[in-house]
Amino acid sequence: MNTTYKIAVLAGDGIGKEVMPEGLRAVSAAARRFGITLELTEFDWASCDYYAATGGMMPEDWKAQLSGMDAIYFGAVGWPAIVPDHISLWGSLLKFRREFDQYINLRPAQTFEGVRSPLAGRAAGDIDMMIVRENTEGEYSSVGGIMYEGTPHEIVMQQAVFSRRGTERVLKYAFELARTRARKHVTVATKSNGISISMPWWDARAAEVAGTYPDVAWDKQHIDILCARFVLQPQRFDVVVASNLFGDILSDLGPACTGTIGLAPSANLNPERNFPSLFEPVHGSAPDIYGKNIANPVAMIWSGAMMLDFLTKGSGAGRQAHDAIVAAIKSVLASGPHTGDLGGNASTTEMGQAIARLISDAA
Ligand code: NAI
Ligand code: MG
Repeated sequence: MNTTYKIAVLAGDGIGKEVMPEGLRAVSAAARRFGITLELTEFDWASCDYYAATGGMMPEDWKAQLSGMDAIYFGAVGWPAIVPDHISLWGSLLKFRREFDQYINLRPAQTFEGVRSPLAGRAAGDIDMMIVRENTEGEYSSVGGIMYEGTPHEIVMQQAVFSRRGTERVLKYAFELARTRARKHVTVATKSNGISISMPWWDARAAEVAGTYPDVAWDKQHIDILCARFVLQPQRFDVVVASNLFGDILSDLGPACTGTIGLAPSANLNPERNFPSLFEPVHGSAPDIYGKNIANPVAMIWSGAMMLDFLTKGSGAGRQAHDAIVAAIKSVLASGPHTGDLGGNASTTEMGQAIARLISDAA
């Protein structure tokens, strides 16, 4: 039986609207080649244009409209000239992550031939890691408040919140992921020397979960030295798992060590598939380059590859489609055409078309 996968397409703002067509071109080419049936539905909300027209980022029934979807393919949101960033972000993307329980934020970071790493002496293949960030709790909580505001006695508190369920599930995901990779290694980010209650507890959960994966090697590192090693010895990392705040920092630092932000993809996953998962480039709407058709489409396209892989559970046609898209990306990164951030002068469309052509032609 051929399954039809329902994809919600939300381009959002700025260059989201320019890279999305290239993402869809590549995803559709791969779907056609590997016999995956996709039903794409485009929505114009979760954008600042929608906000300007309606006073809200999304319609009241956004959750109902998206609930039957298998995945959300998302461009970027934000247009600070008309909507403050905290309103556009909390009114759309952060609602998806929390209300769809997308508790895994997965970000690969890899060096490629044809892309200069800002780290001296790093070549293609030197960096190949997966950063797994907890996406729903931890340091990013809404528990807290301000008292005696505006007085000399003013105090502010914001509680970090770690649940056993939330911690165990992200750790398990990281160990399961490592099991599927060649090196089978997990690094757990911690700060149990300084944060003396929650982080020793986090370490204990890590040790417990690690005990059930005797085939996966692991270590734990304090976040400060871990950041230093991302720069000094990035080749030692395979899967890296971290709390929400530490993961946020690492998942910008990791891709930054490999080259341009125009390459970095991400997945926000609800692994149980009770809700749709969301796939998006790491970058934002880039108002400074929007309208010129010069944005690098690779992050959007690679996010689409992760989406197809997730839809078929990391095997079968979706995995083949993923691998074909990544191979086409590698080939175009190695020999062009390249957008400006990579030192070339190709347009978004030209680079996207070159990748899509390689995906189709290899058939
Ligand atoms: P940004 O990622 O949009 O841009 C940062 C810099 O990277 C800019 O100079 C931009 O031109 C460049 N850049 C980004 N993507 C590129 C690509 N594909 N190709 C070539 N160059 C690229 O981050 P910024 O400027 O901090 O935020 C702009 C807006 O995007 C804000 O409204 C912000 O809230 C929003 N944003 C949204 C995100 C999302 O939707 N997940 C993530 C980050 C920011
Ligand atoms: Mg960030």
